[in-house]
Amino acid sequence: MQHISCKALIQHGSFINGSWQLHDNRFDVINPANQEVLAQVATATAADAEQAVLSAELAFAAWAAQPAAKRAEILQRWYQLIMQHQDDLARLLTLEQGKPLAEAKGEIAYGASYIQWFAEEAKRLYGDTIPAPSADKRIIVQRQPVGVVAAITPWNFPNAMIARKAAAALAAGCTFVVKPAQQTPLSALALAELADQAGIPAGVFNVVAGTDAKGIGEVLTRHEKVAKFSFTGSTAVGKQLLKQCADGVKRVSMELGGNAPFIVFDDADIDAAVQGLMLAKFRNAGQTCVCANRILVQRSVYQSFADKLAITMTQLTVADGLADGSQIGPLIDDKAVAKVTQLQQSALDQGATLLLGGGCHSAGKQFFQPTLISDVNADMAISKEEIFGPVAALMAFDTEQEAIELANNTEYGLAAYFYSRDIGRVFRVAQALQFGMVGINEGAISNAAAPFGGVKQSGYGREGSHYGLDDYTDIKYLCLGGL
Ligand code: SIN
Repeated sequence: MQHISCKALIQHGSFINGSWQLHDNRFDVINPANQEVLAQVATATAADAEQAVLSAELAFAAWAAQPAAKRAEILQRWYQLIMQHQDDLARLLTLEQGKPLAEAKGEIAYGASYIQWFAEEAKRLYGDTIPAPSADKRIIVQRQPVGVVAAITPWNFPNAMIARKAAAALAAGCTFVVKPAQQTPLSALALAELADQAGIPAGVFNVVAGTDAKGIGEVLTRHEKVAKFSFTGSTAVGKQLLKQCADGVKRVSMELGGNAPFIVFDDADIDAAVQGLMLAKFRNAGQTCVCANRILVQRSVYQSFADKLAITMTQLTVADGLADGSQIGPLIDDKAVAKVTQLQQSALDQGATLLLGGGCHSAGKQFFQPTLISDVNADMAISKEEIFGPVAALMAFDTEQEAIELANNTEYGLAAYFYSRDIGRVFRVAQALQFGMVGINEGAISNAAAPFGGVKQSGYGREGSHYGLDDYTDIKYLCLGGL
């Protein structure tokens, strides 16, 4: 922490209505690389969450009334400040989340790119005129901000998941309250500091950092002044939050779990597929919702793909995210290590073969070795659940139809990837995959210009792109009569 040059980025309490809330009751923020306490943050309560919602409600009318160009200008300032402080923000992120510094820098730029994108989109929140059924009428359609937006964000992207929700909400004219994951509040609080410096008015952007997920979650999903709720996290928690939102008929966006298939067909460029898989599998040590989870390889290229992948994986450097050259950092906590270990072990018990890795790494108790498992099948838990760790599980298939059936054989529908150089197959398979996002000969699909989101039990709503504003606006139809 002492290497963070802008000390104002290190905050220790929630940011509500433009001021920092510093209670005596505090919780520890732990570095997952060495389990040391990094900081103690004042524990916000459900009452603080209510305070944040009320201040967002108070700030809403004035923020919504600002010309779009003014909101855009303030968001651009926020973007620039984030990029100016990219190194400090990345260090803070690595310290509390664990990912390698180079990846953390990438996340800061990725998060900021949503703020820049939506600053531009704020000015393009167009409406519509529709030909009316009679000559004395006109139909005008306007898009209006929904009101106060509440959000709960995960620990795997402590900056970018907040930035991409808040950017769209603020651009549309909404005000915003977020509860960051309790493991990673510091990145959220640093974003609040820069929001303040950028001139975002008090009450427009609020961060409620606390450990009472249930109590704070109740307020954010049920409070009558919350118009819309947005969540990124597991499907199980998302279902519970959806039920809570149902009582108030809140607008909801859910970016939930995934179980991404990564298909390698026999006509693929195998080297490119290996490189694509390295991105899609090992980003953030495998802890992303869009990480390749089931690697389906056509039988005739199975062995050569497995050999090349094994060689590439042995070159991965596992180390503290702050160490030079680190590519795989620690998992977030003990529970994550236990889950990955258990999924891997049960696959091996059921007949899978361990080709590489297979346990904790000498870098520390939360570091997991890049692991390659072969002979996996669709009945194993490792094929059904999100692994959320650096374990690559290979399964063979024979035909295109079988690959499509295996890929779609999941309740999830977030991301899928496939490699093929046959143009007909590319269109057939892209069409048949039941997923919200499909990477074709590409392992890195996330960017601000594209609509991020899933189908089936991976949720609904889209973040990023021009579609990203839809979830934060209501359509209002004006009927002008007597003309
Ligand atoms: C996530 O894991 O939820 C987000 C990943 C991304 O934005 O690429």
